[in-house]
Amino acid sequence: MAPLTNKRILLGVTGGIAAYKSADLVRRLQDAGAEVRVAMTRAATEFITPLTMQALSGKPVHLDLLDTEAEAAMGHIELARWADLVVIAPASADFIAKLAHGQADDLLTATCLATAAPVAVAPAMNQGMWAKASTCENIATLESRGFAMLGVGEGSQACGDIGPGRMQEPLTIVAAVEALFKTGKLAGRKVVITAGPTREALDPVRFLSNHSSGKMGYALAEAAAEAGAETLLISGPTNLPAPERVRLISVTSARDMLAAALEAADGCDLFIGCAAVADYRPGSEEPLKIKKSDDILTLTLVKNPDIVATVAGLPHRPFTVGFAAETHDLEAHASRKLAEKKLDAIIANDVSRSDIGFNSEDNQVLLITDDTREALPLLGKGQLARVLIEKLSTRLDERRRASP
Ligand code: C5P
Repeated sequence: MAPLTNKRILLGVTGGIAAYKSADLVRRLQDAGAEVRVAMTRAATEFITPLTMQALSGKPVHLDLLDTEAEAAMGHIELARWADLVVIAPASADFIAKLAHGQADDLLTATCLATAAPVAVAPAMNQGMWAKASTCENIATLESRGFAMLGVGEGSQACGDIGPGRMQEPLTIVAAVEALFKTGKLAGRKVVITAGPTREALDPVRFLSNHSSGKMGYALAEAAAEAGAETLLISGPTNLPAPERVRLISVTSARDMLAAALEAADGCDLFIGCAAVADYRPGSEEPLKIKKSDDILTLTLVKNPDIVATVAGLPHRPFTVGFAAETHDLEAHASRKLAEKKLDAIIANDVSRSDIGFNSEDNQVLLITDDTREALPLLGKGQLARVLIEKLSTRLDERRRASP
């Protein structure tokens, strides 16, 4: 699988002669598997046409903040949510100054301000502008705020000068982008994630199940593997391919999932129960297809084992995290489950909303522990998964420090 598969990258192009290299960068990012959208400042369009970028990216180019039609199609907030990573290449001295001061007076600056995704910046400017104290201070500000500053190349410049300030070559930027997804925060850790629905057989051809797509669990597995963890995904039936560097165990029923989870829990550091496990299964599985006869068919259901609670009850339990999908009283129900299942953390989301949760691309959750409660913004599931893995790995480190 290409290294940037499933990654959604917003390429921001600002005004500078290096903008011609952005056209190649679109292709290189796509070659690495990324889905690319392009946003351009007005100055950028003086150097390279939006049509070129549209033809290469295969998507409309984002230009205007105050264009109602464009905002209705995909506005700056949706774009900010859509992106797993924003890459500004080339980033002019002027754009860097705006970014450092949190300005939001055009589509690209507003998107950078709104996004929860990391922002990587590939500067490009004349060597004199690069050396100026104001630019150095702006770069230092961005670095201190967590922007990924990709540095500059040295050499002859379009203006005839020689020195530092050239934009990094597209392949160097792609390599830096790939590295940004590999945080290493879970290096040396073993992570087990359950995902998808379970199927509880009624007879050889029928089953009870639910609408879980598995997307959130798969995104978490991908993020955990990118963070360097040895990652095992125990999944009920889904249509999703196994993420790269993730070992997949496919199961069908809750009892199969429990057996796989218990086997995997040994030596596991972080266990995330993301599966939508069927709470009940038919009391008996008929060996032959149930025939249509009576007008009313009564099923007897028995409770399934609680997988995440069973793992949390193990003597050498991993840091155990559950999900709570609720339609009302989200926080109260989730907190109760946190306590009842003896979890270390619970991730709660409101499934009464049609824009998030089951089968949708986005999700918005509360991360609750014994003594903390954090509301995360509405994010794409990939972006949310990375944020959650980052936060959970921090908690895991804290726990280890408190009781090594
Ligand atoms: O109790 P409820 O089903 O709402 O709890 C949801 C959490 O418990 C999720 O983390 C889910 O993966 C887990 N769960 C489980 N086994 C069950 C039921 C739920 O692991 N039988």
